[in-house]
Formats: sequence, C-alpha cells, structure tokens
Amino acid sequence: MDSIRIQGGVALQGKVRIQGSKNAALPILAATLLTGESSLIKNCPRIADVYAMVSLLKGIGCTVNWQENGLCIDASSVNCEELGAEAVTCMRSSLCLLGALIGRCGRISMEHPGGCVIGQRPIDLHIGALRQMGVEFREEEGRLMAEADKLCGAHISLPFPSVGATENVVLAAVLAEGETVLEGAALEPEITALCQYLKNCGAEIEGVGTGRLVIRGGRRLYGTDFPVPADRIVAGTYLFGCIGAGGSVFLEDAPWEEMGAVLELAERMGGRLCISKEGIYVQAPGRPRAVECIETAPYPGFPTDLQSMALAVAALADGESRIKETIFENRFRVVEELRRMGAQIEEQDGSMVLVHGVKSLHGASVEARELRGGAALVVAGLMAQGETTVTGCKFIYRGYENICRDFRELGARVTSA
Ligand code: EPZ
Repeated sequence: MDSIRIQGGVALQGKVRIQGSKNAALPILAATLLTGESSLIKNCPRIADVYAMVSLLKGIGCTVNWQENGLCIDASSVNCEELGAEAVTCMRSSLCLLGALIGRCGRISMEHPGGCVIGQRPIDLHIGALRQMGVEFREEEGRLMAEADKLCGAHISLPFPSVGATENVVLAAVLAEGETVLEGAALEPEITALCQYLKNCGAEIEGVGTGRLVIRGGRRLYGTDFPVPADRIVAGTYLFGCIGAGGSVFLEDAPWEEMGAVLELAERMGGRLCISKEGIYVQAPGRPRAVECIETAPYPGFPTDLQSMALAVAALADGESRIKETIFENRFRVVEELRRMGAQIEEQDGSMVLVHGVKSLHGASVEARELRGGAALVVAGLMAQGETTVTGCKFIYRGYENICRDFRELGARVTSA
C-alpha cells in the first residue's frame, strides 16, 4: 500500500466529494481537551494525521470513538498526572496540543517537534507568545518541558502570521485569566474554524477572520457538535489535476469561498470555472498555459500547500513559468522527481524555480518525500504519457483520505499497490 500506480495521459471526467480539512480538524481535536465534556466533530477526515492525533488523545485519557458522521471525543477524564510519564510525542501536526494541554493541565512534556523535508519548522514564535502568557519552558534530556502555574492573558504581537502559533495562543487564551489580544494573527480559514468551534463551546472571541483577535478567558467551555469544513488544499489538488490532465470535473463541497487565489491561478493556467454553492465545476480544454510568476503567501495569498501542484502543471505548460516559495525554505524537493518525468526546471535559489514547459511528460518511478510533493507527483502521473509509480505514499495518506479512489471517481486509471 506504499505505492500508487498511474496510467497517465487520460483526461479527467466525473464528480468527487471533497473530504474534511486536515488542517482545520487537527487544532479542533486538540481544542476538545479544553471543554472537559464530549464533542462530536463531524466530517472529520479519516487520514493518518487524524489517527495519530486520536491515539495521542486516547493516551492522555480521552475516550474517542468514530461514529457514522464523525468523531466523538469525551475529554472529561484527561489524566494530567499521566503527562509527566506519558510524554506527548509531538509530530508537527499535533503541535497545537501544546496550547491545549497547557490550558487544560498547566504543563506538558514533549519531544521537540522536529523539522521535516520542507524546512526547519522552528517553534520560536509559539514559545515567545506563550511565555508572555506565563508559560515557562525548559529543556530536559532533549525534551521540551512547558509549565504554567497560572495562564494570564497578554497583549501579543506575532512578527509573522504563523498558523500554528496563532492556534496555540488561541487555545491557551480561552482558559487563561483575563483578556488576550493577538495582533498579527494568521488569517487562514483553519483559524476561523477553530475560533468558531470554541465560540460554540462558550468561548468569548472577537475579531474572528481578522489579524486582531481578542479572547476573554476564564469562561467555562461546554462540549458541542461541529462540522469540519471541506479541505481547500485537497480541492485545489484535484482542481490542478484537471488543469494538468485536461477534462471536466465537479468538485462537490469544494470551499470555493476560501480559494480565491487558487481559482484565479487555475483560470490563468487555462481552467474554465463555474462556481455554485454545491461546489466547483472546472473544464480544462487543452494544454495548460504558462504563468509569468506564481508566488506563495500567507492567506489570502496563494497557499504554499498547493505550490507543488502548480509546479507540476507548469511543467507541461506552453511556455516559461516562475514559481517563488516565500513560506518554507525547502519546498522544492519534488523538482528532482519531476525531472525524472521529463520536466525542465531550473532552481534559481532555494526560493525560486524557473519552469520551461514541455510538450509532454513521460511516466517514471518517483518517490514522495513529503505530503504535498507526493500529491503533486500523482498529479504529474495523471498528466504524463505512460505509467508512473509513486512510492513513499505514506506521506500522502497523512492528508488525503483516499487519493486513488478520488481520482478514479474522476476517471483516472490509478491503483494503490
Ligand atoms: C501550517 O503549518 C500547516 N500545517 C501547513 O500545512 C501549512 O503549510 C502552513 O500552516 C502554512 O500555511 C497544519 O496546519 C497542521 P506556520 P505551520 O507556523 O503552523 C515559520 C500541510 O501540507 N515559523 O504558518 O507549521 C515556519 O518555519 C502542512 O498540510 C517560524 O519561523 O506553519 C515556516 O517557514 C505543511 N517560527 C513559516 O513560519 C515559528 O515559531 C510558516 O509556518 C513558527 C513558524
């Protein structure tokens, strides 16, 4: 099951429903710890990162059950004493447990959330912000210990709109004493979803959807039912799959209102879009068009998580495209794999590549090294003539419920092996 085989060169045709958002679900699952009651998180994606978060929540005493329409978490019996012994092995995607557990238990011991192939992924912004709220950090035998006798509200200003740091401040602030003002907060839709969940639980948060959040802490929080919004990055992945391979597809439930920059680029690359409240209909009549410059940016700019998909499509475009990555320092690892399929890509420096579009790509054996680069290789396989085998697919399953099933529903010849 760790490889995916694609017979490319087939235009896509069909309809696919977009799964719930990984990056919205993970902080909301962490936030359930703050209520001490049961919450039903509906439309929760069944992906590896969620399964890992579920085992972490169970490991600290939560009762967690999958139901027909979502995930039920009972956080009434979190045993904070376990935390000393039961270190929370922290993957990057569960870093948001930091703020939630400090809010609930006042302390956490965890391994450093290591970097990954797309970058160092430091946590200095998280630490700096939480320190202002009274959290003390120390290293002990390579682990990060965080403790707070009392969490206090603070006036915090983030020098960069870090998604994770924003989430951790919100999670710590809702139970802190007093008011927290967070300036320079990230604007990603996942932050809005997290704040909406917490407000449904009884939290007092103002400025949701803006860069200035005001959180009045100390409110008792209650369990609630909450639907995870559709995944804008999964929708964008399938959208670029159609732009690259050609055809016409309907992306049911796609959160088009969160995808302005993505839809704008898709049209510049030749897609014809029709938006409805049910989703996005996209037609791609011919070869993708080259785009002079594609630059990633914090929301509402073009999302870094779709940069690799745009790169794969640009590889087949009718001219030169320049792609600039401004969020992560090493998010072009997929270039070497795309070159094995015939792509002509010049790396100008760590943050920019120049893509010379070619008339056709050919199938090859390629390796996924991280989540979104892996998904981009599947997209490239759809566009290429012949057979492509993508290995290292465990990375892809971290964020996509079933990328093979989804692309098969769009008429692609894709099997997992
Ligand atoms: C979240 O990561 C997402 N992950 C990422 O999606 C996404 O690419 C990223 O936001 C940007 O949108 C989840 O939501 C689980 P950041 P996060 O803090 O929170 C630097 C995917 O494919 N930084 O906004 O880690 C950092 O190194 C993943 O689904 C610091 O320097 O992103 C990076 O260069 C990949 N110090 C930049 O900021 C810090 O303390 C953006 O990081 C924190 C971050």
